[in-house]
Amino acid sequence: MKQLLIIFHSVTGGAEQIAQAVAKGACAEPEITVILRQAQLVQEEQLREANGFIFVAPEMLGSLSGVMKDFFDRTFYRVLDELNGRPYAAVICAGSDGQGALRQLEKIAMGWRLKKVTESKVVLTYAQSKEQILRAKTLDQSALDQSEELGTFFASALALSVF
Ligand SMILES: Cc1cc2nc3c(=O)[nH]c(=O)nc-3n(C[C@H](O)[C@H](O)[C@H](O)COP(=O)(O)O)c2cc1C
Repeated sequence: MKQLLIIFHSVTGGAEQIAQAVAKGACAEPEITVILRQAQLVQEEQLREANGFIFVAPEMLGSLSGVMKDFFDRTFYRVLDELNGRPYAAVICAGSDGQGALRQLEKIAMGWRLKKVTESKVVLTYAQSKEQILRAKTLDQSALDQSEELGTFFASALALSVF
């Protein structure tokens, strides 16, 4: 069975809810093994074994959250040239922007020669004040539905080898 690896990091729950919705959608495809894993737990071997990737991370201080960046820092050169051409999608969870993190993630994915198979998404939580940013997030249903659709689309296409 082909494997879809969903790699996420989350502090206040927004990116985690997105990743779970993506996984739920992907699980609708019986031909794919879906693995949902926190970025800090991902090892290089799991990257080699995966046939496709969905990255979900928050934007923090205009770039990828430190833990997500650390995942790439730990693994980037260990698997360089071994993932070429594998499909990926990305979702950034952000208070009001998300573009810095998205650019950074897409640059890293390009370095790995991954293939972007759908437009990357930014889900905004509209958290701007200190209180809003620190509070646990509850995403609205449309963001979760779109994330679920992304998972279903990605897994079905991976199963059919259309990427
Ligand atoms: C230290 C810190 C820095 C942040 N910087 C940004 C930022 O540069 N741009 C932005 O849009 N949101 C920023 N945010 C808001 C987070 O992206 C937002 O709270 C998001 O929901 C975090 O994802 P999570 O709920 O999965 O942890 C920041 C939050 C924190 C805690």
